[in-house]
Amino acid sequence: MNPCEKAGILVESIPYIKQFRNEIVVVKYGGNAMIDEELKQTVIEDIVLMKYVGMNPVIVHGGGPEINALMEKMGKEPVYVNGLRVTDAETMTLVEMALLGKINSEIVGRLNQMGVLATGISGKDGRLLVSEARDPALGLVGKVKEVRGELIHQLLNLDYVPVVAPVGIGASGESYNINADEAASRIALALNAKKLVYITNVEGVLESVESPGSLLSHIHVDEIDDLIARGIVQNGMIPKIKYCRKAVMGGVERVHMINGNKPHALLLEIFTNDGIGTMLTR
Ligand SMILES: Nc1ncnc2c1ncn2[C@@H]1O[C@H](COP(=O)(O)OP(=O)(O)OP(=O)(O)O)[C@@H](O)[C@H]1O
Ligand SMILES: [Mg+2]
Repeated sequence: MNPCEKAGILVESIPYIKQFRNEIVVVKYGGNAMIDEELKQTVIEDIVLMKYVGMNPVIVHGGGPEINALMEKMGKEPVYVNGLRVTDAETMTLVEMALLGKINSEIVGRLNQMGVLATGISGKDGRLLVSEARDPALGLVGKVKEVRGELIHQLLNLDYVPVVAPVGIGASGESYNINADEAASRIALALNAKKLVYITNVEGVLESVESPGSLLSHIHVDEIDDLIARGIVQNGMIPKIKYCRKAVMGGVERVHMINGNKPHALLLEIFTNDGIGTMLTR
């Protein structure tokens, strides 16, 4: 690439920097996109760049594979119902160990290493994610009743990047396992985020999970129920697409899903004209 082309790419980013400067952008970093060390670092770099050009990224992370690995070590079998993990008390302890003890701490460490100030919190901190049981059959799987965004606003005022583990707090102070897609969507709505990006391990919503070429690059919210009913959207994509819809309907202007297995997918989505992944519209 010649210097002129390089400059062209930087110039292309100007309207995006202008549009999202000082705005909150919620990034949901899926556990399934955290497998490769080098790719993890590219995601961190993208977040650091967003911060340095004046955006306010808020990270909400998942951790499915890490939780499964820990459960396996402890001799427990993961069970899912409609993409949600059935969570007994012992599993909840493992969920917190994996999310807070490992993943959250690692993301915070990597961001700090790159020179931005990051701080890790869970939805229990400052009662960020006030939650209740979703369905007795799912155990300690929670649903978010209320989001108290004060702590995140304070952290953003201090110029920190908040990194949120999706654990909710119940009426008696108990922990709930919150689907990270739900947590991200609710936090984006509560903070009036301008944009919400889900980083996952597929290109976006696919017509056929086996073929990456079958990407649906735009989905209107009215199509979602049909995609689920027809069995096109399954497993972990079910909560994701439903919470994308909630965010879009609630006024988050831009909601996207992108593939974290592609280097710098987040950077390309935020700063360039290239349409990648799936965009939800209403
Ligand atoms: N139509 C579809 N298009 C794309 N992916 C689909 C579809 N239906 C089901 N899926 C599955 O959804 C998965 C993504 O959701 P999943 O919950 O596994 O990941 P994540 O949300 O990114 O990670 P985590 O749950 O750890 O935060 C894909 O890997 C794919 O197997
Ligand atoms: Mg998921």
